[in-house]
Amino acid sequence: MQFAQRLTNFKSNVFADMSMAKTRAKKTGKEIIDLSVGSSDLPVDPHIAKAIAQSLEDPATYGYLLHDGTRKFREAIAQWYIKRYGIEVDPETEILTLIGSQEGTAHLPLVILDPGDYALLLDPGYPSHAGGVYLASGKIYPLILRVQNKFLPDFSEVPTAILEQTKLMILSYPHNPTTATATRTFFENALEFCQKWGIVLAHDFPYMDMVYEGIEAPPSILQIDHQKKLSIEFFTFSKSYNMGGLRIGFAIGNSQLIDGLRQVKAAIDFNQYVGIINGAIVALDSPVQNIRKTVSIFQQRRDKLLTTLSGHGWHIPVPTSTMYVWAKIPENISASSLEFCLQLVGSTGVAISPGSGFGRTGEGYVRFALVRDSDTLELAAQKIATFLTGMG
Ligand SMILES: Cc1ncc(COP(=O)(O)O)c(C=O)c1O
Repeated sequence: MQFAQRLTNFKSNVFADMSMAKTRAKKTGKEIIDLSVGSSDLPVDPHIAKAIAQSLEDPATYGYLLHDGTRKFREAIAQWYIKRYGIEVDPETEILTLIGSQEGTAHLPLVILDPGDYALLLDPGYPSHAGGVYLASGKIYPLILRVQNKFLPDFSEVPTAILEQTKLMILSYPHNPTTATATRTFFENALEFCQKWGIVLAHDFPYMDMVYEGIEAPPSILQIDHQKKLSIEFFTFSKSYNMGGLRIGFAIGNSQLIDGLRQVKAAIDFNQYVGIINGAIVALDSPVQNIRKTVSIFQQRRDKLLTTLSGHGWHIPVPTSTMYVWAKIPENISASSLEFCLQLVGSTGVAISPGSGFGRTGEGYVRFALVRDSDTLELAAQKIATFLTGMG
């Protein structure tokens, strides 16, 4: 069968290769320690689960949820945003419910790009940003992230000829996979750059809470673009509240962008189940200590993994944010990041992500998701150490 041309961009997928390798390793009796997906293993707070369970008991919750039905959620978000960032947003025109933030960032290019228009994407970056651009038949210009620039892009590297055809830029800090954070000054420069070239600035912000001890809270994009001229920001409940499987998020920003995204989504979905939305409303009111506890667990896990790997000779810079570790493959190993990860899972059962899955610039790196307890991470690190001895 002949598929649309745009699907050719999805053909080679290192994550699919990894998934098959995990299945093969399992079949040969290996116990899999899966650190390849950023899906939190920590529990949802009981008060959130209770709100969802109560909704399940209510027969009125089972119908389609139209946009009007999300009003209470949008009002709760507006309240939360004032409390959190001191900025007023109109729940009617500047907030939109999403079925997870990935859904929003992947649909946004359909609002903005005509076929052949460019989007500027971080490389390495979150794969669904590229996926959304491909679905809209857009083109990608990579913003290369280098360790010597603290994994921040240099906007002056984008050629003028590309900028003239660019309609969208997607940033995301704290950053998956590199774990980099960005300052207000960085975002001010990004906003100025987008204003100059008439580019929509989207900020994917799932790790808003995931910064470790002593690190300043990361800025929200509307703290920079006060007038909401050209920005839209994407939030999720997957990380701060461990609600990834429940698929709930939201967008805040420029009213035209919010309206455009609403129009695209109206052709595609009927919002999330209202019971999950009720859980999200309760989550927004959670005590701050609950989130800090989650973050401190990731911090302890980070320390355990890095200390154990370092004890075996693999020294990795200490991340200050997210729930990941971004590590350069040891110099004495010549395998590509995909080969490295395939061999690792095949011989030890430990699954991590090849850097190349996040873009060309990710080659030479691997990403660990800290989604198992400290003891399991220590065991994984020991298995990796044995594997490295055999490889080197
Ligand atoms: C940068 C980034 N955006 C979006 C997501 C997915 O968020 P959600 O579960 O809300 O779709 C992730 C998940 O790892 C992520 O790292």
